[in-house]
Amino acid sequence: MAFALTPEREREVEELLSHYPNRRAALIPVLWVCQRQHGWISPEVIDWVARRLELSTAVVKGVVTFYTMFFEEPVGEHVIWVCRTLSCDLRGAKAIQEHLEEKLGCKAGHTSKDGKFTLLKAECLAACGQAPMVQIDDDYFENLTLAKLDGIIERFRGEAS
Ligand code: FES
Repeated sequence: MAFALTPEREREVEELLSHYPNRRAALIPVLWVCQRQHGWISPEVIDWVARRLELSTAVVKGVVTFYTMFFEEPVGEHVIWVCRTLSCDLRGAKAIQEHLEEKLGCKAGHTSKDGKFTLLKAECLAACGQAPMVQIDDDYFENLTLAKLDGIIERFRGEAS
């Protein structure tokens, strides 16, 4: 099915384009607008962005595949990134990942059956001094313990009172 932005998001793209010297320079923020609407960067989104910015689909796809923040397949309602680089690993990131896998019922790289969470592993998220940490959507959760993590997940599930 062909992709199109809502009129409101199309206005957002127009505004973005007015801040950049050329269309190509706006590629990342425009992809970001599309992902916020669609949830992921499907082949139809790539086609739309290529047409809108007058670029080849290869250029757009090259950027999408380079940056891990762009999802190339559908993801859950919330995306959890577990930092698995050295500082976090030394402070229990493996246990954090395993705890989440058990709690969500899916391995890293997959989405929970209820579609609520996608669990992904990340390289250093630049919060090493607060290790171990995870990023959920746009927010960081730092100095984690398993108990603290349980409370955070419950809040996202809407289970907390
Ligand atoms: S190692 Fe985890 S934030 Fe840097």
